[in-house]
Amino acid sequence: MNHPGTRDEPTSGLEDIHIRRVADEEFDAYGQAIEAAFGSELSPARLELERSTYEPDRFLGAFTAQGEIVGSSGAFSFELALPGGTTAGCAGVTAVAVRQDHRRRGLLTAMMLRLLEQADERGEPFAALWASEGGIYGRYGFGPAIPTTRIEVARDRLVLRDPVATDEVRVIDATAAVGLVGELYGRARSQRPGLLSRSAAWWHRLLVHDPADERDGAGPRTIAVLRDGGYVVYRLQPHWERDVPCGTVRVEELVSLHPQATAQLWTFLAATDLAVTIMAPGRPTDDPLRSMVVDPAHVHVRSGSPVYLRILDVPAALAARHYPVDERIVLDVTDRLFPERSGTFEVVVSDGVAQVTPTDADADLALGIEELGMLYLGGVRPTMLRQAGRVEQRRSDAVARCERLLAWDQAPMQCSEF
Ligand SMILES: CC(C)(COP(=O)(O)OP(=O)(O)OC[C@H]1O[C@@H](n2cnc3c(N)ncnc32)[C@H](O)[C@@H]1OP(=O)(O)O)[C@@H](O)C(=O)NCCC(=O)NCCS
Repeated sequence: MNHPGTRDEPTSGLEDIHIRRVADEEFDAYGQAIEAAFGSELSPARLELERSTYEPDRFLGAFTAQGEIVGSSGAFSFELALPGGTTAGCAGVTAVAVRQDHRRRGLLTAMMLRLLEQADERGEPFAALWASEGGIYGRYGFGPAIPTTRIEVARDRLVLRDPVATDEVRVIDATAAVGLVGELYGRARSQRPGLLSRSAAWWHRLLVHDPADERDGAGPRTIAVLRDGGYVVYRLQPHWERDVPCGTVRVEELVSLHPQATAQLWTFLAATDLAVTIMAPGRPTDDPLRSMVVDPAHVHVRSGSPVYLRILDVPAALAARHYPVDERIVLDVTDRLFPERSGTFEVVVSDGVAQVTPTDADADLALGIEELGMLYLGGVRPTMLRQAGRVEQRRSDAVARCERLLAWDQAPMQCSEF
């Protein structure tokens, strides 16, 4: 690939800027430059934490001739869980920031091209990110693929139709939890697309690292585990009004392997003294809580931030997941950022596994790479994109066939930011 801004030479319009790796001694300034773009500052403990998951060969800084850091972006090396329990390499794009006085000059575009090229060179068929603002990343081929919801329920209204006992749920120490929770999470990944791999450093970051100044007014993290069933990670945010306790349970992650475990974990949360409300962001769109309670009107579900997915290698991506039905479909895929990757692909699925080959055959469905990313994990329905005018049906039954082909019994999920 050869794009402006992808080489070591200065980018047009940014003659004084060099994009390069960050030297070890520049790390602290780099971390603060990223945080400053978000209107914040990193404590020494937070800087150390960022260092623990930092991958020096995958992070870029944009430097002025005087050595000031005016832009940043990077990627983590993840494996993405796919429908059918397979996984594939995924660049977790992060740290995207440009100093205010250098914005709208193409710096992000130059860095993003490099990150995506690098992911491609490493053989990763996917890149993913959480967006601060949804309007930024479509131009780079990212589509919102993992919708999330935010559940809010009054604790005393969380009454299950079929009550369960919670005797087997145990609160465990964070350091001890890493192995058990990691094992349960690994099992969930084989059922639930969208979940990303987590290294030991990531587990430390998500479970163990918990300084008081990063809790945003809440108490320490609690980890409750149900052996062979799942776990929930949460905090109590205490609050008192006229001497009456009305705190909030803030759920950070709830992972369940079967319906009985889901019922036990929610029931356990509902037993949190001093709380009035339970808030659980990052829930998948098929979260069953509304169907489990006596009165679903009290379970308030709002849409949350989606995770964006970018397919870098269409044949590799389509061949990597499993499919619920056998089918043949021809897709005409347009990639505006990397036009040489556009093409028409024949997808032939047999026993749930796809063979994908470039073809000259007429396409059944035409769509952009952004739309293919949205549909790929089964979190967005082809019918919806057709109604939005975002896919072009060239054969009358193409959308219906895609609908059956790309569906998956569990909606994709991603609950931890990176
Ligand atoms: C978002 C940010 C990194 C963009 O950097 P930048 O160097 O100004 O981006 P570029 O000049 O390469 O612009 C790329 C394109 O994105 C568009 N764009 C940039 N920020 C945008 C936003 N917030 N919403 C919609 N479009 C945006 C630009 O208009 C430009 O469009 P064009 O290609 O049609 O001309 C920068 O504004 C920033 O640091 N913002 C604060 C931190 C932040 O939100 N980071 C993103 C975290 S996910």
